[in-house]
Amino acid sequence: MSKKIKTIGVITPGGDAPGMNTAIRAVVRTAIFSGLKVYGIERGWRGLIDNKIINMELASVSGIINHGGTILHTHRCPEFRQKAARKKAYENLCAYNIEGLVVIGGDGSLGAAHALHKEFGTRVINIPASIDNDIYGTDYSIGFDTAVNTALEAIDKIRDTATSHERVFVIEVMGRNNGFIALDVGLTAGAEAIIIPEIPYNIDAIGQKIRYGQQRGKSSFIIVVAEGAISANEVAVHLRKRTTLDVRVSILGHMQRGGSPSALSREVACKLGARAVQLLIEGKSALMVGIISDKVVETPIDEVARRKKKLDLAAYKLANMLAT
Ligand code: F6P
Repeated sequence: MSKKIKTIGVITPGGDAPGMNTAIRAVVRTAIFSGLKVYGIERGWRGLIDNKIINMELASVSGIINHGGTILHTHRCPEFRQKAARKKAYENLCAYNIEGLVVIGGDGSLGAAHALHKEFGTRVINIPASIDNDIYGTDYSIGFDTAVNTALEAIDKIRDTATSHERVFVIEVMGRNNGFIALDVGLTAGAEAIIIPEIPYNIDAIGQKIRYGQQRGKSSFIIVVAEGAISANEVAVHLRKRTTLDVRVSILGHMQRGGSPSALSREVACKLGARAVQLLIEGKSALMVGIISDKVVETPIDEVARRKKKLDLAAYKLANMLAT
């Protein structure tokens, strides 16, 4: 039996995602209601190395459930790849008697937490939070649904002007090396083509789809491109050689990372935040909590790190079929 835990920390390293604040709130309040002391670590792993550790009370997380970003701030921290940096981080955790850490972040944060656990025995529970939704072991990572809705709202607006001016719009969305955002956005926006890294694309075929569409009376087209596949500007250069229509580019960029979290992002954050704390209380470690088929589940971090989340190929085919 492991010793009963008394003090935990919560950290949000890596890229922010809408719903992180909702998760921090769930972690802090579940911890305090369970009789634990809880600290917040500011600026991700950078802050843990630099000892930026603050006390969290019930009131510290008041009024943040609907705010994008992270009140704890974050920082990309390549230095954390070095063991010496992780050792410093571990020593700082010990100085505050922090016996368990809830890590709210993407796959980079997951790997870093795993290293802390393996090297120093730190008890860690990961909560998947990344707009990219590329983490194995969960249907949704916190922020994904919000990012998809943000991009969708933008594309719906772009479609108005695309229709009026009879143009082709090539719209680039985020997702790092994966096409999860592009696929969901492309399907729900009714994009005439979706270009993602997981599936080979054929510019000639897209050009042909535009021409066939024109023959049937269509005069505007939306092409959604995942940033990890090819740049929207490059696609536009290729398409201009294959269509007489005016081709314009829109790169949605970091707007996809901001804004008030959607109901789904908040629901995932509330449930996973609370479960993460319960797991630490139960003496568990090196797990990631996730949602699969509407249920909260746990997967060992090493399995999450080893396995690759699969893209829904049926959704890709459906999107293509529906947007003819
Ligand atoms: O992982 C989230 C994400 O927004 C990716 O979609 C994107 O490629 C990357 O982060 C951008 O990171 P940064 O804000 O550090 O440039």
